[in-house]
Amino acid sequence: RFISTVEVIEVGPRDGLQNEKVSVPTSVKVQLCNSLVDAGVTRIETTSYVSPKWVPQMSDNIDVMSSLVSIPSSVEVSVLTPNLKGLENAKLSGRVDTVSVFGAASESFSQKNINCSIEESIQRFSAVAETARAGGLKVRGYVSCIAACPYEGPIDPKNVVKVWRLLKDLGCYEVSLGDTIGVATPNQIEKVLNALVAEGADVNELAGHYHDTCGTALTNVLKSLDLGLSKFDSSAAGLGGCPYAAGASGNLATEDLVYLCDGLGIETGIDFGKVVKASEATLEVIGITNRSKSAQAWQAK
Ligand code: HMG
Ligand code: MG
Repeated sequence: RFISTVEVIEVGPRDGLQNEKVSVPTSVKVQLCNSLVDAGVTRIETTSYVSPKWVPQMSDNIDVMSSLVSIPSSVEVSVLTPNLKGLENAKLSGRVDTVSVFGAASESFSQKNINCSIEESIQRFSAVAETARAGGLKVRGYVSCIAACPYEGPIDPKNVVKVWRLLKDLGCYEVSLGDTIGVATPNQIEKVLNALVAEGADVNELAGHYHDTCGTALTNVLKSLDLGLSKFDSSAAGLGGCPYAAGASGNLATEDLVYLCDGLGIETGIDFGKVVKASEATLEVIGITNRSKSAQAWQAK
């Protein structure tokens, strides 16, 4: 299969910032989102409408979104909504295109992350999806723990297929496959993707969401490209992790994804240097440096 274009879904403002210990001011989050759009990002996950008690870093969701109303309509803005309350708040912004429901292939992770079983989560997501779609919003789905769970260990691809099908049946136009704790190797990703395709999944309706804890995210992208995937979630500067997955580091860095695609002659529409610059103010507030290897090399020049 020849992939000529990759769609990058920038999740740094949400997945990245939800797990940084330092709370980032709303204005800095807004600057980060706008600069990433300026760098050529056409899909961005800006915040999550989750409980502020569970994830205080996202408690300014309404303010972030009210400052982002002028993001061009050509950009797809998505947010996480675990339940109807989250959806109600997301609808207030007037600039959300897509709401994402997030399930898991592991019962323990579902309980720790969203305080309910997989079955209960699907019931909640059904209600969210029905209401969202009736209101003209697109619905995206996540499956976490596609290879391993921080509480249960290795996960059988059959469990991933089960949750993927439930999400597809409730109307998700795309399902993002999360290696939540960033431990998967390409052979494991291949097993999961093959299992999904064998059960009828369309590779064009799947996205790879690979955390980089063990440094394998980019190799997992390469394997996924070989198997026909062309959509990947990534986080500027490699920010973040997951608050309910101890030890998990950030997503694959957007810079590293763009660097790989540039080198392979695959279009992303994203300017590498502008992405590096986009996160500078955020990194300064947090007190860290860019975690992307290609960004570090570029900065050292
Ligand atoms: P719960 O405590 O069971 O909820 O949490 P509840 O329905 O019993 O409500 C309890 C209180 O929370 C109530 O307030 C609700 O109003 C409030 P009180 O009456 O006590 O004052 N509440 C809310 N407030 C704001 N927004 C809401 C909302 N819902 C209830 N939407 C809940 C259940 C799902 C809300 C909670 O577990 C939660 O927020 N979990 C989210 C955790 C999270 O954000 N995790 C990180 C994102 S997932 C991820 O990172 C993985 C991913 O990147 C993919 C991958 O890497 O694999 C996507
Ligand atoms: Mg994630």
